Amino acid sequence: MKILLTGGAGFMGSNMIHYLLREYQDIEVINFDDLTYAGNLESLTDVAQDPRYTFVKGNIIDTNAVETAIQGVDVVINYAAETHVDRSILDPRAFIDTNIYGVYNILEAVRKHKIHRYIQISTDEVFGAVLEGESDEQSKFEPRSPYSASKAAGDHLCAAYAITYGVPVIVTHSCNFYGPYQFPEKLIPLFTMNLIEGKKVPVYGDGQQVREWIFTHDHCRAVDVIMRKGNPGEIYNIGTGYRVPNLEVIKQMLDLTGRGEEAIEYVLDRPGHDRRYAVNSNKLRTELGWEPQVSFEEGLAKTVEWYKNNPDWINRCRTGEYKEYYLKQYGNK
Ligand code: TYD
Repeated sequence: MKILLTGGAGFMGSNMIHYLLREYQDIEVINFDDLTYAGNLESLTDVAQDPRYTFVKGNIIDTNAVETAIQGVDVVINYAAETHVDRSILDPRAFIDTNIYGVYNILEAVRKHKIHRYIQISTDEVFGAVLEGESDEQSKFEPRSPYSASKAAGDHLCAAYAITYGVPVIVTHSCNFYGPYQFPEKLIPLFTMNLIEGKKVPVYGDGQQVREWIFTHDHCRAVDVIMRKGNPGEIYNIGTGYRVPNLEVIKQMLDLTGRGEEAIEYVLDRPGHDRRYAVNSNKLRTELGWEPQVSFEEGLAKTVEWYKNNPDWINRCRTGEYKEYYLKQYGNK
């Protein structure tokens, strides 16, 4: 099987490349990635010489580059996306380009070249804040940030292409991922990095916002089973049911890094901050037989250990200036 995996130099993409090459002998993976700020080929040095792996530098907003890369491929998995809510608040433009126009380009190429399967990696954030209960696959899209609105638009395009042209696309809505190789701008990697380096961590608002967490390995297993057994045109939610307020996650990170509560700095809440996400993943569990395997405690311990052991990888991520800028604009109390 030949897979075109877009965004393979990013966090989830690189984890999936490692997963696929480890799990399957008879596989070819093309990593199509433009190496924007969150892409880092250092995450893939161990597989760079593997004959089953190829890197192609390219952007999904480039129609011709997508057309060329897709030739002879069986499956496309699209991990290429702008994903950070705070960046979308500062400047939504790249989100519109990549998450909407880029998805349109892939859909067109999949249609034209009659690709067997296209998996679009998306997020539970398209459902907006879920104050009570859970979002299932039929829940209405109510995105509230430029990021989630752009992902929702891409997902709508996928649904439209499945209905109108019979494009065999499957959309996933996942809860928050975490694990090794995640760019240190999201909660878990940013806070881990700051705590390891003796710095403070900026907690938005009261820190009682609830997120549902999945360790990268479990997410890779879910995408794998969806790719092999999922039905084209369908939607699958991916979730663990592990839902906790941010402060609970932060307390566990303080313990793992040997820091105290004085490391916490409360800053202004994120504009439009979604209070709670909760995704119903029964369909994936009952129809495709997937279950998460890694507990949050175990996954977080592995993640913190990885960041402790990889200071060089962290040093290659340029994040300081951006975060300072964000906090100046939106964080000062
Ligand atoms: P994040 O990792 O940005 O993911 P998302 O907003 O897409 O769920 O944030 C996770 C939670 O952590 C969210 O409620 C916002 C909060 N948060 C902070 O309190 N401080 C921070 O510096 C960041 C990046 C996030």
